[in-house]
Amino acid sequence: MPKIGSVQRICEVLRLKIDAGELSPGQKLPSTRALASDLGVSRSTVVSAYEQLASEGYIETVPGARARVALNFVHSARVHRPSLKAKQGEQRKLSAYGRRTAALLLPAMPEIKPGEINFLYGAIADEDFPKLMWRKLYNQALMKRQAHLYYAAPEGAVELRSELQSYLLRARGLSCTKEQIIIVQGAQQGIDLCARLLVDPGSDVVMEEPCYLRALRAFESIGADVTPIPVDDHGLMTSLLPNAKEALAYVTPSHQFPLGSVMSIGRRRELLAWAVKNRCWIIEDDYDSEFRYGLKPTQTLHSLDVDGSVIYIGTFSKTLSPQLRLGYLVVPPDLVKVFRQAKQLTDRHAPCPEQLVIASLIQSGAYERHIRRVRRANESKRTALIEAIHRFLPKQVLIEGTASGLHIVVWLEDLQIDHEPTLIACARALGVGIWSITPLYSTGNKLRRKKCAGLVMGYAGLTATEIINGVERLAKAVQQTHTRAVGNKVSNPRR
Ligand SMILES: Cc1ncc(COP(=O)(O)O)c(C=O)c1O
Repeated sequence: MPKIGSVQRICEVLRLKIDAGELSPGQKLPSTRALASDLGVSRSTVVSAYEQLASEGYIETVPGARARVALNFVHSARVHRPSLKAKQGEQRKLSAYGRRTAALLLPAMPEIKPGEINFLYGAIADEDFPKLMWRKLYNQALMKRQAHLYYAAPEGAVELRSELQSYLLRARGLSCTKEQIIIVQGAQQGIDLCARLLVDPGSDVVMEEPCYLRALRAFESIGADVTPIPVDDHGLMTSLLPNAKEALAYVTPSHQFPLGSVMSIGRRRELLAWAVKNRCWIIEDDYDSEFRYGLKPTQTLHSLDVDGSVIYIGTFSKTLSPQLRLGYLVVPPDLVKVFRQAKQLTDRHAPCPEQLVIASLIQSGAYERHIRRVRRANESKRTALIEAIHRFLPKQVLIEGTASGLHIVVWLEDLQIDHEPTLIACARALGVGIWSITPLYSTGNKLRRKKCAGLVMGYAGLTATEIINGVERLAKAVQQTHTRAVGNKVSNPRR
């Protein structure tokens, strides 16, 4: 057996020599016997190296004759390399989509220091993932014998779509066929598919202000003309909807992201009527409706829609884990085909065993039991957060969006918007991660609900004790920020 290391070494040396032009096309190589004796390796080692180089197109072997450098070999020195100046002038071009995407401001991955108490929204607790049950059902899905392993349907496993069909009716009053359901890799892929299939560069997209940034960026990457509409306690202010033909509206009616208001039934009807009048699509992102405290979740827009205007998006990111990357769309019947086609082109289909696990969880009733348990846990965390805010933070604090979801919005009326960076830095130094609401306003602070510092505080990833400790430390950070703000005023009285 030739030694692999020696074969690789011979190949490397010969490749370098051929590439650099030291051995030119047609030039004969030493015989296998001579090279083996020169290098002190077996002849079979040299034969293997020559076979490898011949398969890569560096050399040609001819039975009974010495191997030679391939006649048509183009060594790198002969490949045209433009001068540096030319390179700078005519860079390889990105597509228009690529250029828009490259220019977008997207949040970097949060850096969380070990031991830090971070009120990161979108995070859930590790113990809230049903690990043991998942492992058992995953093993079952994996061990299920299949005739062969081939790609699956782009719309997702029929088992999961059937279970979702009845779950959506039970939990959300949403009636659809299983054919209308498309399993996607999280709500984000659903939003991206909607943007690519329903929006042209220059088309109008209506968004809530403030909004879910990654949805906004998905529409911007397509080149949409985004119209921000403010939200109040009843959700999107439908009286301000523009008269734009064939536009699209993206909304989070059961828990506006981030402010938390629930869209009133009147506004829902107005939005649906607007969509019909203007021939617009509505995307209903129902990302965390499972977490409505005290009351039943509000009816979906989809269930009020009799004209097929609404595309509904659901996700398992809040109920199971954001790392699963699984969610679903419910699309009107006339969009089923194009969504399946686009999904196939994007990534063929979502991962199969995970889909089967979720189907089993729903079918056995374990999914809804799990949601009830996690909802109770999150309700206690929410209470702990609100109580800690009332206990430790100054009186001039306004809390919003507590009726549902896994985060709240906290307005610190004693601090100005431009104090937010100092507050964040002071909190960080005290071991607390907090997140400003400011980046979620797409129009700067023009349509901002409150002209004071504002935070989006996620609590689902923390324990009640961490929440209380975190708020106590945050209160110190607020105090330090005040002191610095007063200090700055004294030293810069004109500012
Ligand atoms: C408004 C909104 N939609 C959707 C999602 C979840 O997206 P995904 O299912 O891609 O994890 C989030 C996550 O925080 C969100 O805030």
